[in-house]
Amino acid sequence: MAVRPVLTWGDPRLKTNSSDVGDWTPELDQLVADLFDTAYAEEGVGIAAPQIGVNLNIAVIDVSSGGDPGAKILLINPEVVRTEGSQVGQEGCLSIPGIHEVLERPQKVWVKTRTREGEWVELEGEDLLARAFCHEIDHLRGRLFVEYFGPVKRQIIQRKYAKQTR
Ligand code: NI
Repeated sequence: MAVRPVLTWGDPRLKTNSSDVGDWTPELDQLVADLFDTAYAEEGVGIAAPQIGVNLNIAVIDVSSGGDPGAKILLINPEVVRTEGSQVGQEGCLSIPGIHEVLERPQKVWVKTRTREGEWVELEGEDLLARAFCHEIDHLRGRLFVEYFGPVKRQIIQRKYAKQTR
């Protein structure tokens, strides 16, 4: 059990492309356990490995925030394969604490992901889970949700963020 420090907006390590995972190891099990611990400690619905400084294509999601053990999802080398519709709603990120902004995302998302055993499976998510799939996979590509906004809006968010973290 270990809650790891979360890198925050502005840290260049959040902007790097992560690498695919090869053979599964006990160290990676520990990493996954730490990711869940960290997400729950911060009351998040998901976190990606690069947010704790590990540049591997691994992310965890739990839209129940620990309330339902069956809701735990592990993504390994994931890819969005298809999306459908759109939803408009609030989004936040553990790496940008205190900031929540309205962002359009697909309503339904299909993700191809590897399992620990090395098999490929397809997962389907709707609503918050669809949003979480997109958000966490973006992290693996070095993208934060605030980067979807134009320069003017981003500057406003940056000011708001700087004010509250001062
Ligand atoms: Ni995030």
